[in-house]
Amino acid sequence: MQALILVGGKGTRLRPLTSLLPKPIVTLVDRPFLTYQLEWVKAHGIDEVILSCGFLPDQLEAVLGDGSALGLTLTYVVEPEPLGTGGALKYAEPHLQDRFFMLNGDTLTDMDLSAQLAQHLRTGARGTLALHPVDDVSSYGLVPLYPDGSVREFLEKPGPDDAVSTNLINAGAYVFEKEILDDLPACGSHFSIERDVFPRLVGNGLYGYEASGYWMDIGTPKRYLEGTFDILNANVATAIGRRLAAHGGCLTEGATVEGRVVRPAIVGAGSHIGPEAIVGGLAVLGENCRIGAGSHITDSVLHDGVRIGARTRINGSILAADVTVGDNCLISRGAVIGAGVQIGDDNEIVNGMRIFPGTEIPAGAIRFSS
Ligand code: GTP
Repeated sequence: MQALILVGGKGTRLRPLTSLLPKPIVTLVDRPFLTYQLEWVKAHGIDEVILSCGFLPDQLEAVLGDGSALGLTLTYVVEPEPLGTGGALKYAEPHLQDRFFMLNGDTLTDMDLSAQLAQHLRTGARGTLALHPVDDVSSYGLVPLYPDGSVREFLEKPGPDDAVSTNLINAGAYVFEKEILDDLPACGSHFSIERDVFPRLVGNGLYGYEASGYWMDIGTPKRYLEGTFDILNANVATAIGRRLAAHGGCLTEGATVEGRVVRPAIVGAGSHIGPEAIVGGLAVLGENCRIGAGSHITDSVLHDGVRIGARTRINGSILAADVTVGDNCLISRGAVIGAGVQIGDDNEIVNGMRIFPGTEIPAGAIRFSS
């Protein structure tokens, strides 16, 4: 079985993590994000993956290779310009088999693709969308179904006074019969599968599969952190989550720890935690990080090669590779620091501030209190 995975977006909402890297290879816990998806599809019998790329495709290929390490065949299809989610499907047509999965490349999930395919075959559908239930329906378009599972309609985000009959949203995982491509706009056109294709397929063989399990679109810093913590807490089934659980919630192999690591936490090889420093709970440090004496890192992700001075506090934030932070800093509440940024002593980076790669902040330049 084959899967077409869309990875051509620019990932603007995840900048500056995606300023220099395409979203699929931004590290999530211990591996490029897309690796979770590839492991997931492989577990459901998919052996051939077509990656529909546009933004920085060479970097993607350099990291993911030909897929053989994961027991998959990876084919890269590069759009000359972004064609939207529908245009990307049509552009990949020459590579597609008669029946295939199509997946958004930015979801972390353990949904049961095998059950989705089984339902697709049972109903004789032309297209089957995985649907995921959400608690707060106000930020999503909704997909009500008829009792036989066929899609009734696509509803825009409901207003506060609208009566809603469902809490199911499109989870970005579809099974298609290739014949649906015959009715799409010509190859090379820009269009959206969600807005321009699905509404026209209603009443014409389009079904919904009510998925259970974990599902998260990791396309914003807040959800990237939530996805990370869900992996650490084993709320989603992943290989690294299982390994962490088997080690009692702390993985520090190859690191030297003078201070303390509080579970759940992962500290990469070659990293050093200085005296009286505390890392965790809920922290991921990549390889070769250094945490100075007396610093505290909680609810945060530090990629490879990050260096933190003494008595600095970091919480609820993401620091990309090779960031350096001086002594007595506060990095807090949703800050996102791009690769290689240098922050001098006595700075406060807080409340969702995003610092882009190449920035150098001198000592004491940003403070909100004296
Ligand atoms: P934002 O810029 O932050 O909205 O992120 P994004 O560019 O990834 O867009 P969005 O999250 O809406 O995209 C959903 C999925 O479709 C992601 O996996 C994208 O990589 C992919 N995608 C979006 N637009 C295109 C496109 O024009 N071509 C291809 N091949 N993939 C796309």
